[in-house]
Amino acid sequence: MTLPSEINFTHQLNWRYACKAFDPNQKLTPEQWAILAESLHLSPSSYGLQPWKFWVVQNTELRRELRMASWNQGQVEDCSHFVVFTTLKTLSEDYVNHYMQRIADVRNVELSTLEGYRQAIMGGLVNGDRSHTIQHWAQRQSYIAMGSLLTTAAYLQVDTCPLEGISAPEYDRILGLETSDYTTIAAVALGFRSANDKYQHAPKVRFDINDIIEYR
Ligand SMILES: Cc1cc2nc3c(=O)[nH]c(=O)nc-3n(C[C@H](O)[C@H](O)[C@H](O)COP(=O)(O)O)c2cc1C
Repeated sequence: MTLPSEINFTHQLNWRYACKAFDPNQKLTPEQWAILAESLHLSPSSYGLQPWKFWVVQNTELRRELRMASWNQGQVEDCSHFVVFTTLKTLSEDYVNHYMQRIADVRNVELSTLEGYRQAIMGGLVNGDRSHTIQHWAQRQSYIAMGSLLTTAAYLQVDTCPLEGISAPEYDRILGLETSDYTTIAAVALGFRSANDKYQHAPKVRFDINDIIEYR
């Protein structure tokens, strides 16, 4: 396999921008979406706990309602794939046990060999001080997945727009999540830019690299 050159990679990161207007007639191929779905699936998380669920909303009526709960941003309806990021509201012992069982199954090890690991998670996140900030913890994990999705899309020349300009409670209501274990944090629209979107030509606004990366 030929590795991409650094120049091409940086070029793609410059090519990416927060797309304001998608071409509603252009859709991702199933192959493109499969790669992007794997970028979510393979995303790392603290302890590997994956405290998230990603909802791909393809229903046009739901999309219309979500747009109204997103400051009327057109990307919600016009993009090819619309992914809502949700995170666990709480971290329960049952969830941790479910994860331990998954490790045991995938790696073919006895559950008992994972007891120390299980206790570390229980002591730190479920019963310890960090249990009070579990939603913030879960959100931080999910933003790693969002970064992975945006970067993978850029590399595939798929356009994206991350959206925090949404009403999370409204999203939860529209998607029927209010009584579920998950709550909305943000969304990402994916598809292909409209030729009319002037933002694609705007220079990137970033602080000088030496102001944001320091060496010691
Ligand atoms: C978490 C997050 C939420 C954002 N929410 C919105 C949004 O609701 N609507 C929008 O048009 N852009 C949104 N943006 C895009 C940013 O404004 C944009 O990434 C930033 O201005 C840098 O520009 P660039 O992405 O085009 O390089 C969001 C970006 C991030 C990372």
